[in-house]
Amino acid sequence: MPTTLSPSARPILAWTDLLLVRHDAIDADHKHLFAMATRLHAGICDGQGDSLVREIFRELMTYAREHFAREEALMAAARFSEKEEHVFEHRLLTYRLNNLLYQFEGGQPNLAEELEIFLDRWLARHILTSDLQFAQCVANAASSN
Ligand SMILES: [Fe+2]
Ligand SMILES: [Fe+2]
Repeated sequence: MPTTLSPSARPILAWTDLLLVRHDAIDADHKHLFAMATRLHAGICDGQGDSLVREIFRELMTYAREHFAREEALMAAARFSEKEEHVFEHRLLTYRLNNLLYQFEGGQPNLAEELEIFLDRWLARHILTSDLQFAQCVANAASSN
């Protein structure tokens, strides 16, 4: 399995249109998630202070939870057959984000790298496989109504 999904073989650490799933609301959410993650990454790398980094972390986690809930509501409305598997992936992503926060609270020195791994191997991979598949199902359901 490749360690990165980008054609240039560079890891995905910031928003790129390669991640578009062609559903306006979902794409807007994903762009916002990456913008927040990029801000968090900069905060960690620039040593912007624990309280600021913690605040961005919490905002990112809240937004991710809201985003997953929005997707799951769309899946239910479109009767997406693989909703259960998708929801499980959302739980895993949430677990990984929580883990990052624990690592941050525990003073983990490689947090920026851990965040890069989360973005490239977990979030980007989820968007390019599972979100893309479900967005197509939502589009098909909309066009058949
Ligand atoms: Fe998703
Ligand atoms: Fe998503």
